[in-house]
Amino acid sequence: MREEGLDRTVAAAADPVEAAEEITLRPRHLAEFVGQAQLKEHLDIMLEAARRRSQPADHLLFAGPPGLGKTSLAGIVANEMAAGFRITSGPALVRAGDLAAILTNLTEGDVLFVDEIHRLGRAVEEILYPAMEDFQLDIVLGKGPSARTIRLDLPRFTLVGATTRTGLITGPLRDRFGFVARLDYYSPADLDAIIRRSATILDVRLDAGGAVEIARRSRGTPRIANRLLKRVRDFAEVRGDGSIDVGVARRGLELFGVDELGLDKVDRAILTALCSRFGGGPVGLSTLAVSVGEETETVEDVYEPFLLQLGLLMRTPRGRVAMPSAWQHLGLEPPPPSEPPPGLF
Ligand SMILES: Nc1ncnc2c1ncn2[C@@H]1O[C@H](COP(=O)(O)OP(=O)(O)O)[C@@H](O)[C@H]1O
Ligand SMILES: [Mg+2]
Repeated sequence: MREEGLDRTVAAAADPVEAAEEITLRPRHLAEFVGQAQLKEHLDIMLEAARRRSQPADHLLFAGPPGLGKTSLAGIVANEMAAGFRITSGPALVRAGDLAAILTNLTEGDVLFVDEIHRLGRAVEEILYPAMEDFQLDIVLGKGPSARTIRLDLPRFTLVGATTRTGLITGPLRDRFGFVARLDYYSPADLDAIIRRSATILDVRLDAGGAVEIARRSRGTPRIANRLLKRVRDFAEVRGDGSIDVGVARRGLELFGVDELGLDKVDRAILTALCSRFGGGPVGLSTLAVSVGEETETVEDVYEPFLLQLGLLMRTPRGRVAMPSAWQHLGLEPPPPSEPPPGLF
């Protein structure tokens, strides 16, 4: 697989060692990709059909919160199609010319991965339409009345886009994908399988109880599962004999501020602000984000989906509201209902 990083947004980990480990843990083939059974089957059929027709696969869009496997799947598509893999991202493509340069350098069959595709500028996006639809590139030469457009043929390629929410993609762009897949949070059983796979690759001694404990607290997210495994490994090496069982996992995770439900400091700060400062809400998203010192978009795309999934928080037209389980989880007393409950008749 030819892996040319035009941009290094691939590895989300800030630390270079961590980033390198993330790449070694990344599944390379569909068979290694744990969970998401329905999505995998659809993909398998699409890729097999394309291979039989000796054609590049149709354009694909993967949507879902960070760390669920979008970048991994893009690489898998290239691998399974024995195609070249080119990587870029929405924010890296500032001018139309940036994208034009990449498109004209593609080889027949290449997979072009555009991460954070919802952050493409309007002018760049417009170049993409004819490229996706007809494998053509319109270039404007000159300015003013003497300007003329020339049309270039591009090699046939597969565009794979990734976004945190499909709702952020414009209609015309979305319509040009042959397949739009949503990635969901993983079950504890899938995370358990991912953690055991990673422990084997990283050569970490981990028993069944340790794996279950880390899986349970991974926020349904493979990237977090791998990160917690590595933190608990550090803890086991320094404070124990290097092997991980339930007790070691529990103590390690507590030390790193991951609680029973897998919530981290920011998750808890959001719930605490919502319950204590805003009396349980409703409170607007941007107010809530400011009060925990995070970007609105980060709260909405990274933190909130999991809190919603756990039923700790609710979205209402008037803002975010804490659910009784949020108070309970923080060890706080929920306020008495403001209105007397309606009669039983
Ligand atoms: N289904 C999966 N099976 C095994 N590992 C996975 C899976 N999904 C994600 N991972 C792991 O999580 C890490 C982050 O996944 P990535 O594809 O970068 O997520 P995204 O691009 O959605 O943020 C990968 O390096 C990989 O180790
Ligand atoms: Mg990614």
